[in-house]
Amino acid sequence: MIDKQHRIKIAIQKSGRLTDLSLDLLQRCGLKYTRSRDQLIAFGENMPIDILLVRDDDIPALVRDDVCDLGIAGLNVVEEKRLRFLDEPDNESGMEEPFEIVRQLDYGQCRLCFAYPAGGEINSVQALNGLRVATTYPYIVGDYLRRHSIDAEVIEFSGAVEIAPGMGRADAICDLVSTGTTLLANSLREGEVVLESRATLLRTPLEVPAEKADWMARLLQRIDGVMQVRESKYIMMHAPKYALAEIRNLLPGSEAPTVLPLDSLDNRVAVHVVCRENVFWETLENLKSAGASSILVMPVEKMLP
Ligand code: PRP
Ligand code: ZN
Repeated sequence: MIDKQHRIKIAIQKSGRLTDLSLDLLQRCGLKYTRSRDQLIAFGENMPIDILLVRDDDIPALVRDDVCDLGIAGLNVVEEKRLRFLDEPDNESGMEEPFEIVRQLDYGQCRLCFAYPAGGEINSVQALNGLRVATTYPYIVGDYLRRHSIDAEVIEFSGAVEIAPGMGRADAICDLVSTGTTLLANSLREGEVVLESRATLLRTPLEVPAEKADWMARLLQRIDGVMQVRESKYIMMHAPKYALAEIRNLLPGSEAPTVLPLDSLDNRVAVHVVCRENVFWETLENLKSAGASSILVMPVEKMLP
């Protein structure tokens, strides 16, 4: 049984582009789990955290209603629901945020864009005055059109938006684009970007019991560590002492390096440094030109900021 008082519940997408990456993130945070037979719940074995696998569209409401403490969904879904909830009649003040966005994660990047029939007359959002736009994001699109003073009719679709223009149901669409394959396959041309999206971590707006809050803080810290590690490298090299300043400049996002003496060498030292950005071949070549030798770049396994 799920224990509401003490166990954190986190909702993630059941099947889709964020599913495996979200499970992977939680595993890298140290969570070991067993899936229920219907695959819809994963029970944490070594941390008081259980995962609910649900439709991504349902995640914001599960967090708002405090059924789940945390949720991971694309910013596109999060923002659409946020605008929808704020517009609901029982939210009279219109001020109460339904959930808190606590992190933008480092996966699930895509964009919500307008798209127009290729070879047609419409080639900008300005041209949509008096025309129809099909989308599954009516709130985001409506908001965008209002802010740009464009008077277009928003037609809500529940899916397969890309076929709307071909069927004569709309003049343009506004939909998620990742690789662009779907647009291409439907003879649509990408237009203005409405929203840059990526996986987003939500938390309940309510206070949680202390024990849970503790674990939540730990999980967040581990998530930050996992994201940092994916970019970080541990670099070791030998270098002349006079080149230390230049070497630091060449290494983006590095903290104070460890400098160690080298046996029987007076003017050369060993330099160890954690670099928080990806290290490219060009950087190594520049380090070498600066006088470094024996340069080693190693992946970082874990990191606590
Ligand atoms: C989005 C969007 C397109 C597709 C675009 O759907 O609605 O169908 O992805 O990706 P592409 O540019 O790589 O072709 P998604 O897979 O997120 O499914 P959903 O809309 O059912 O959630
Ligand atoms: Zn979806």
